[in-house]
Amino acid sequence: MTLIFASNNEHKVREIKSILGNSFTLLSLSDINITEDIPENEPVLEGNALAKARFIHTATGKNVFADDTGLEIESLNGLPGVHSARFAGENKDPSANIEKVLLLLGNSENRKARFRTVIALILENKEYLFEGVVTGNIITEKRGVEGFGYDPVFIPDGKSRTFAEMGLGEKNSVSHRARAFEKLREFLHTSNLSNNKETI
Ligand code: IMP
Repeated sequence: MTLIFASNNEHKVREIKSILGNSFTLLSLSDINITEDIPENEPVLEGNALAKARFIHTATGKNVFADDTGLEIESLNGLPGVHSARFAGENKDPSANIEKVLLLLGNSENRKARFRTVIALILENKEYLFEGVVTGNIITEKRGVEGFGYDPVFIPDGKSRTFAEMGLGEKNSVSHRARAFEKLREFLHTSNLSNNKETI
């Protein structure tokens, strides 16, 4: 089955190919020559994921999925959340984003956080939502060079290393995105595709 992944982030495309495996042919936006920025103006992750999937579905008429992820920090009332990419400004600078988070957290003892990924799938003109979550803690300084985004300051529960200190395989064994995409993979393999829109 061929699916379009509504993303131009090659890092993510690689990560997701390794999760979905070889039974799906995944096309990124650059594979289908779409280079424009898709609007992401919705106030919640679900809305943004759906908006991106609908935008590409309208443009191509093909089966498509899109994801949106946020880092939700408990003592910051869920920030940066849907603003994770641009938390410190429009240029999406990961170091500046991390600095802002560490500054806002200060010496706060409650450093609980979670990554949450929402995937919107449009398959045969029907819409589906999938969610994946990993809980953990924000440490006080950066550790590790792997991964991207907030990885250097996030330690998932049950581990002692940050996501940025892990290889892709170890990160995928617990990550928000892996959990959401595992649900998508499972669904694509087993569903009778009977409902119009539901959260799985
Ligand atoms: P996106 O929706 O996947 O583009 O994610 C939005 C923002 O959340 C990214 O720009 C990163 O700042 C952050 N983010 C998403 N996934 C991860 C991750 O796996 N590790 C660290 N940061 C992430």
